[in-house]
Amino acid sequence: MTSTIRKFIFHDLQTIEGYIDPPDALVFLSLLQGQQERSFTGALAEIGVFYGRSYFLLRKISGDDAPILAIDLFNIGQTVDGGSAQYSRFLENGRRLGMRVDEEMIIRGDSTLLEPARLTDKIGKIRFFSIDGGHMLRHVAADSRLAMEALADHGVIAFDDTFNPAWPEVTVGMADFLRTGGGAFCAFCMTKYKTYVCRREFHAFYTSLIADSADLAAFDHVETEFLGSKVARLHNPISRRMLYELMVRSGMSAFSERVYR
Ligand SMILES: C[S@@+](CC[C@H](N)C(=O)[O-])C[C@H]1O[C@@H](n2cnc3c(N)ncnc32)[C@H](O)[C@@H]1O
Repeated sequence: MTSTIRKFIFHDLQTIEGYIDPPDALVFLSLLQGQQERSFTGALAEIGVFYGRSYFLLRKISGDDAPILAIDLFNIGQTVDGGSAQYSRFLENGRRLGMRVDEEMIIRGDSTLLEPARLTDKIGKIRFFSIDGGHMLRHVAADSRLAMEALADHGVIAFDDTFNPAWPEVTVGMADFLRTGGGAFCAFCMTKYKTYVCRREFHAFYTSLIADSADLAAFDHVETEFLGSKVARLHNPISRRMLYELMVRSGMSAFSERVYR
């Protein structure tokens, strides 16, 4: 099963316009499989679908029947009949890859205006919540509050674009969340692009999950301190990133998986 998902990560994912790359895809895989092995229940959710790159990754990892809630403005472009070009392309990606989109679980609208009950009434408590919508402080503040309220006790929130100088307010929003959430949440893992947080009681669990994951063994695990907790920073050397890019660009994406073993 894991090998089919790795094949998807290293082959199909690049065919969808979007932003999640293999290192974070492997973190998603490790976390979701670790939760499943522990029988941690709950839905998956994402703010910021774009054309579905991470949505279809969540679908691939968790299977056709898994409840996945997805929220986006879907306001990029217009079809000839006045519909959303972004939404059409998202659905088209699903058809092309033979992957299910549960349209009942798609919320088209501004995430910052949603109440947590709207999410939990639809899908129940959430065990994995990816925040990748609006990138200004007011978006991250609202989205992290929403995620916190809808999260299962054992849930994880993944913040995208943290420490990216192009979106400085994302980092402020994520840090505000950790500092003002009453100390209830802490970070346990960071990559070049994302920060992963959980409730403090689950810090030890997720720390060992990341440390022991075979899919993350290719990375250097560097212990870092961040706002009162130890965080595994997964370092991906530039040499590997370059080799991977080279293989993908020269049409050898089928072999690019070996770079991350
Ligand atoms: C960076 S893209 C998401 C990338 C995506 N997660 C992927 O894997 O490729 C950001 C998305 O957030 C959506 N977005 C921006 N502001 C939003 C808001 N206030 N509410 C809901 N979605 C929003 C945009 O429409 C866009 O599709």
